[in-house]
Amino acid sequence: MSDGLEGVIAANTVLSDVDGLAGRLIIRGHSLDDLAGRTRFEDVAHLLFDGFFEDMPSDLTAALGAARVAVFAETTAIDAGLLKLTPVEAMRALMARLADGDGLETALKLLAAPAVFIPAVVRAQAGQSLVPPDAMLRHSADILRMLRGRPASEAEADALDAYLVTVSDHGLNASTFAARVVASTQAGLTSAVLAGVSALKGPLHGGAPGPVIDMLDGIGRPENARAWLEAALDRGERLMGFGHRVYRVRDPRADVLKAAVRRMGEGSNVLPGRLAFAEAVEKAALAILRDRKPDRPLDINVEFYTALLLEALAFPPSTFTGVFAMGRVAGWIAHAREQLAGGRLIRPASHYVGPQPRQAA
Ligand code: ACO
Repeated sequence: MSDGLEGVIAANTVLSDVDGLAGRLIIRGHSLDDLAGRTRFEDVAHLLFDGFFEDMPSDLTAALGAARVAVFAETTAIDAGLLKLTPVEAMRALMARLADGDGLETALKLLAAPAVFIPAVVRAQAGQSLVPPDAMLRHSADILRMLRGRPASEAEADALDAYLVTVSDHGLNASTFAARVVASTQAGLTSAVLAGVSALKGPLHGGAPGPVIDMLDGIGRPENARAWLEAALDRGERLMGFGHRVYRVRDPRADVLKAAVRRMGEGSNVLPGRLAFAEAVEKAALAILRDRKPDRPLDINVEFYTALLLEALAFPPSTFTGVFAMGRVAGWIAHAREQLAGGRLIRPASHYVGPQPRQAA
């Protein structure tokens, strides 16, 4: 029995490779550094989908734009009950209205759905009118426009693209594994993606960046960092944005996202001094974790600078997990198709440690 399936290889994949010792991420033959900041989300989705769908256009931009328009129709189902949910729960409920299927049409709707539903839910919760998609825009620019009701700058759309590309796929993480398990039953892409969303929302996976903002707000000033972090660990809490199942060194995604925040720079929504403050908190956290867990290398993970980037793009912290889903949905869909194409039903065994039935006297 491997607790948490640590180290268990449960799939062959051509999609991505996470090297936890070297701190390296490869997405379909490209290093993360070559993709993030240079590639748009729709191009990475194309890269991930390549070979898994028939009749895929050479550029997904127009088809994804049309899919955003198609799924926007589902926002008429937003009612008072749905508005009481968290944005990611409301997004999941709206996604569950999409029919199951295995083809490109279903895949594109699922790819579009988090991007359309998160801005719609946030605006509805704030009592604002919804902003319909503009099929002509690039995906990242349209997401920001639907969220804010006004066009985003090129620099902001570039930063969001860098984020979506960075989180598009990452080996057999918990949500991708969940998606592959469901895909292996031949339930359909919508079911597989809903499993991915459900696994993603937990604080040990994609639910961490919102609490990173709470942590930064709680610390307030760099000189408070050490005492605040020590007190949190004394209470038995984990430091959000640190530690990883696979990485024993820095998560390479952290520095890619930090660089994206830096590129947005002056004149953007990045609060003055925010990056320097976050770096001070990071430094303090790493020193404390090294002292307290000398035998377990705990380093920064993707979520810490995700929080800073999404905050700078004016996403409310309550939406961070949903924005993660906007990127990771590409990986879930590709993995689900890969599982269907070559994998068997995923059905591991358990080791029974309960009582045996009493023997008849
Ligand atoms: N803060 C403090 N201690 C930690 C942290 C942390 N962030 N992460 C791990 N540890 C400690 C654990 O307490 C444990 O110590 P112990 O052996 O003395 O009990 C030891 O390190 C090993 O922890 P595990 O839980 O076995 O490690 P695992 O691989 O299961 O956990 C995880 C990985 C869930 C990411 C963990 O590091 C964590 O909870 N981090 C904080 C939440 C977070 O940032 N999540 C986002 C992850 S990235 C992503 O999924 C996209």
